Amino acid sequence: MKKGIILLMLGCFSISMFGQKTAHVTVQVTQPKQQISKHVYGHFAEHLGRCIYDGFWVDPNLPVEKQGRIRMDIVKALRDIDIPNLRWPGGCYADEYQWIDGVGKPEDRPVTINSHWGGVTEDNSFGTHEFLELCELLGCDPYISANVGSGTPEQMRDWIEYLNFAGESTLAKQRAANGHPEPYGVSFWGIGNESWGCGGNMTPEFYSDQYRLFQTYARDYSGNRIRKIACGPNGADYNWMEVCMKNIRSMWGISLHHYTIATGNWGKKGSATTFKEDEYFGAMKSCLFMEELLQKHTAIMDRYDRQQRVGLVVDEWGIWTDVEPGTNPGFLYQQNSLRDALIAGSTLNIFNNYSHRVRMANLAQTINVLQSLVLTDKEKMLLTPTYHVFKMYKVHQDAKLLPSFVDAPKYTYGKEEIDGLNASASIDENGVVHISLVNLNPATTLATQVNLNGYNAKSVKGEVLTSKSFTDHNSFDQPNKIKATEYKDFKQKGDLIEAQLPPMSVVVFSLK
Ligand code: AHR
Repeated sequence: MKKGIILLMLGCFSISMFGQKTAHVTVQVTQPKQQISKHVYGHFAEHLGRCIYDGFWVDPNLPVEKQGRIRMDIVKALRDIDIPNLRWPGGCYADEYQWIDGVGKPEDRPVTINSHWGGVTEDNSFGTHEFLELCELLGCDPYISANVGSGTPEQMRDWIEYLNFAGESTLAKQRAANGHPEPYGVSFWGIGNESWGCGGNMTPEFYSDQYRLFQTYARDYSGNRIRKIACGPNGADYNWMEVCMKNIRSMWGISLHHYTIATGNWGKKGSATTFKEDEYFGAMKSCLFMEELLQKHTAIMDRYDRQQRVGLVVDEWGIWTDVEPGTNPGFLYQQNSLRDALIAGSTLNIFNNYSHRVRMANLAQTINVLQSLVLTDKEKMLLTPTYHVFKMYKVHQDAKLLPSFVDAPKYTYGKEEIDGLNASASIDENGVVHISLVNLNPATTLATQVNLNGYNAKSVKGEVLTSKSFTDHNSFDQPNKIKATEYKDFKQKGDLIEAQLPPMSVVVFSLK
């Protein structure tokens, strides 16, 4: 910030003597709120395209470090962001999946069809034990989606017993014979996925009855508590939330799915890397709609659950674009640009700020599908801009939310406007304060004053992720074009931080 800037307060933000609009962010450092569950930073891996097969689970001859067929460069990258949980096997695939097909000797497993995603052959070589081994390597909790659409309560009950029962039973013996005498203790269970769509095309009334039936048989074996997650609404389907909250009692959480669509048109979603400002703006608007969804859905939840026992689980979110030219349309392979990093930073800020209800979330999907963290091409592997945001934001996991308030100029495009700046803040168990800021303006460096309300940090450090164009991305030729670097364009003055936030940037401050 230049010397001698006089700030004229104009209600929502201020204007310097040079006419530059200054954004204000106030952080109440001395008033920590609830913990931001680390599970808000979760991920999702479906049997879809090249997420599992040729993603996590590779050809035995691929020249990369592997444990069995699990690709270790990916495992290491995900460990580096402290991945807290992984959702599997779908998605739409979950409501077609018969768990029994994926246990036992690989050569004896049936060959089935993944009829939802490209009609490809599924050899079931990656099944329950392989998934749980992957979670063990990642050091994360498994989150399993049970089949309600084409499965039975008995099949789900058996799967849970197979995995979690410590005593004597045929299924527990089968688990031991398949290499795992100890129970796995899988706690997170989704009861159906998108039951309003690919998971059975149900009405909310029918689904909530189905949920009541299925959940009855989701037993807590051997001291393991099952955290049951009901299938919640598709975006703004508030009636679905209303009916489920009214009819269902026994649930740990209820899900919500919202995808960012840049064009607003599911039939023509637009390219991941070739777009202009209209689609940049459209994507940001669609991404920020998450806040309205959370506000309206949590208001409904509050009416039925005043004590906020039920968590909102946003177990599918992220940008969905057209597939990369020349790739299988059923595989949903898309590149990942700076735009996507800003979507990740903004959505995670919203989740942090709603962490009194949002207890879990899963970006769709981890590798080679939709808004990925990792892209692979045979033995090559790259980390996307979205990955780097998760790395910058991992400091918020299990930290306590600090209330923050943003007064900033709007980002205007044509006749429309959206918030140009968003933020969230937390304090970790060591007393370190982290503030994450996202400047969505494509051309404006945002003079920003962060007011810590009387808190004087001994040291302030910053990291920034940005690039020249919103279409910039990491490619196999230039895998490190976009990554976080040290951020220095700020000054600390007592309890104020005066920063110049570059256009299209994610900045995270660490204050000790
Ligand atoms: O993430 C891709 C698909 O999107 C999932 O399988 C489904 O649940 C959603 O419609």
